[in-house]
Amino acid sequence: MTADATTLDLLSRRKSGHSLQQAFYTDPTIYAQDLENIWYREWLFATPLAALPKTGSYVTQKVGPYRVVIVRGPDGSVRAFHNTCRHRGSVICKAASGTVAKLVCPYHQWTYELDGRLLWARDMGSDFDPSAHGLKPVHCREVSGLIYICLADEAPDFDAFAKMAEPYLAVHDLRDSKIAHQSTIIENGNWKLVWENNRECYHCAGNHPSLCRTYPEDPTITGVSQDGTFPPTVEAHFARLEGAGAPSRFQMSDDGQYRLARMPLLDGAESYTMNGKIAVQKRLGRIPFLDAGTLLKFHYPTTWNHFLSDHSITFRVTPISPTETEVQTTWLVHKDAVEGVDYDLENLTTVWEHTNDEDRQVVEDNQQGINSPAYEPGPYSASHEDGVNQFVDWYCATMSKRLAPTRMAAE
Ligand code: FES
Ligand SMILES: [Fe+2]
Repeated sequence: MTADATTLDLLSRRKSGHSLQQAFYTDPTIYAQDLENIWYREWLFATPLAALPKTGSYVTQKVGPYRVVIVRGPDGSVRAFHNTCRHRGSVICKAASGTVAKLVCPYHQWTYELDGRLLWARDMGSDFDPSAHGLKPVHCREVSGLIYICLADEAPDFDAFAKMAEPYLAVHDLRDSKIAHQSTIIENGNWKLVWENNRECYHCAGNHPSLCRTYPEDPTITGVSQDGTFPPTVEAHFARLEGAGAPSRFQMSDDGQYRLARMPLLDGAESYTMNGKIAVQKRLGRIPFLDAGTLLKFHYPTTWNHFLSDHSITFRVTPISPTETEVQTTWLVHKDAVEGVDYDLENLTTVWEHTNDEDRQVVEDNQQGINSPAYEPGPYSASHEDGVNQFVDWYCATMSKRLAPTRMAAE
C-alpha cells in the first residue's frame, strides 16, 4: 500500500465522535501529508496588516520548508514572495520583521524592488535577463486588515470567505490598528491537538482561572449550533448588536472551514481583563456597546481570533514538526492609543498570556499521553465537544478528498 492509501484507510476506519488514531498526532508521514494536502493548498493567515505600517515594512513567515516574505510596496499594496533568491537560492530577509528600501540578498547582493522585480545583479553579462529573475510571487489577499497567503500554484477561492467576513470585521477598523504586543510560543504538540483544544471549553473551568473571569464555558458559545438556533440569551445578544449595526449572527461556511459569530461574555464583562473592564480607553473600532462580547472567527488551518469592543487579538498556528506547533498571538489596539495613557500593557495582555501558557500545558500533556502505546481514540462529550468533532470532521473530509485515488489517478 502507498503511504496515501494507508492514510486513507486509517481515515476510513475513523470511529465517529472519537479522537483520531495515534498516527495522526505522531507519524512523520502523516505530518508530511498534512503539509502537502492542507498547509500548501489552503489560504493561510499570515499577519495583521498593522505589522506593515509603511513602505518597505516586511514580515517573514515559514511554512514547512517554504520561506515567505510579505512586504508593503510604495503603492501601498501588500505582496508576498518566496523568500528565496533567484540567483543561487539564499534566503533574502532573515529577520521576523523589519523595514527595507529594497529587498537585498545578503549573499551576492542581488537587489529586488518591493514589487519583486530584479533591479540589480552585478556582472551577470550582457545576455542576462533580469526580467526573468524576479522573485516568485505567493498568492496574497487582504480582508479588513488581515493578510492571508496561499502557497498553492492555483489558490482556492478566497472571495466567499472575504464576502462573509468583511461585514463582521469592518466595524473593528483593523486598518486603523497598531500592534501593542506580540507573543510567539512553541507548544510541544501536533497542530491538530492545538486546534482540538481551541475548539472546546470543556477544559476551561479546570485550567483557565483568568479567562473564566470573563469567558463563558457554555458550549453554545465555543461550539457549533447543529440546528442553527441558540439559547434566548444569545439570540437576544445577536439582536441587540445587529440592531446597533454590528453583524453578529453565527455563520459558517458549508464545508465548515470558517465560522464567524459575536458571542456574549459573562454578565457585564466587557473585555479579556482580570476585572472584566475594557483594557484600552481609546477603543479600536466602532462597536456600539462596551459589553458587546467577542467576535469569534476561526479559519482552518491557521487562525482563531477574538475581536472585542476595545481591542482585537489574532492567533496564528504554524506546524513545526509532528509534535511541535508555533502559536503567535498579536494584540491590536487603536493606532493612536498610547501605552501608559490609554492602556496598560500588562492589563491588556495578562489574560491571554496566562491562557496561552495554560493551553500549551494541556496540549503538551495531551501529546505525551497520546505517544503511549496504550492510547486509543476516546469519545467526545456530545454537549461540550461538538466543536472538536467539527474540526476533526473538517480535517478528515479534507484529507480524504485530497488523498482519494480518483484524484491521484487524474493527476
Ligand atoms: S544567492 Fe542571492 S545574490 Fe547570490
Ligand atoms: Fe484553552
